[in-house]
Amino acid sequence: MNDTPPICDYEGSDYQTSFWEQGGRAYEDAVEAVALRRLLPASGQLLLEVGAGAGRNTPRYGGYQNVVLLDYSLTQLQQAQARLGRSERYRYVAADVYHLPFVDGVFDGATMIRVLHHLAEARRALQEVRRVLQPNSTFILEFANKRNLKAMLRYALRRQTWSPYTPEPIEFVALNFDFHPATVRTWLQSSGFVVERQLTVSHFRMGLFKRLLPLRLLVWMDSLAQLTGDAWQLSPSVFVRAHVRGDAQTAPTGFFRCPACEQATLPDTPPELICPACGWRFPVVDGIYDLRLQ
Ligand SMILES: C[S@@+](CC[C@H](N)C(=O)[O-])C[C@H]1O[C@@H](n2cnc3c(N)ncnc32)[C@H](O)[C@@H]1O
Repeated sequence: MNDTPPICDYEGSDYQTSFWEQGGRAYEDAVEAVALRRLLPASGQLLLEVGAGAGRNTPRYGGYQNVVLLDYSLTQLQQAQARLGRSERYRYVAADVYHLPFVDGVFDGATMIRVLHHLAEARRALQEVRRVLQPNSTFILEFANKRNLKAMLRYALRRQTWSPYTPEPIEFVALNFDFHPATVRTWLQSSGFVVERQLTVSHFRMGLFKRLLPLRLLVWMDSLAQLTGDAWQLSPSVFVRAHVRGDAQTAPTGFFRCPACEQATLPDTPPELICPACGWRFPVVDGIYDLRLQ
């Protein structure tokens, strides 16, 4: 499809190992766990995890009966499947967030952690997530904050050319974007979400703090600082909990929708799903639905 924005492809990446497990990111992982505990509803039916990667956060969604792990990268999903196993509880779907292969309003929850960061058309992705959520369902979004304290200081000292205060995203490396919090809130609202709560996260993401202070103390300090998130956002990472505006609607019929023609419900018929409207064929390999358009 030629209207697809460029994708930051993690195919073949060892991100989970090199960045998280061997990259000294225990602090970042722990404070994200705290934020998710605070924001996730106690229970739910079907959660969509957008850009699930290798499933680092998936075990944190224990309140939901079923979780769909969606990622553009097949190899990330293979790693997630190796970690979490094949079961009724999880469904693995390779797809593009700009073309979600689901019927409208089928999920009652969604998360998108460390993914907006890679999206050239972030607002479009938010609209697509909104489309597949039921009214009143919960969406938890993490984004990288351009107006963080370090960027503000660097800008004041003229060690950074771009302004942290202007509303547009900053692409500091190809397909790596930081966002202004007010812009993200505006996009969420115009996409049909109501922002409920914000937590600022990873305040102490600096080598010096990590070297000098014990992990438990850093996590405790961040847990307290997170609570200022509704008042101001000066941390490098922000978590937002939003819900979908609108009244309850009748349950949708079907689950998959053809991402190519966007017209027909796709019958769930592994090892191959065939669109009855446009004839596009999508394979299911080793338990992973490949619903990418390629
Ligand atoms: C930084 S990783 C985050 C993974 C996971 N959420 C975590 O926090 O550990 C970003 C993930 O987003 C996925 N991604 C990037 N662009 C995407 C797109 N257009 N559609 C679906 N997934 C995408 C990448 O494949 C990658 O696995």
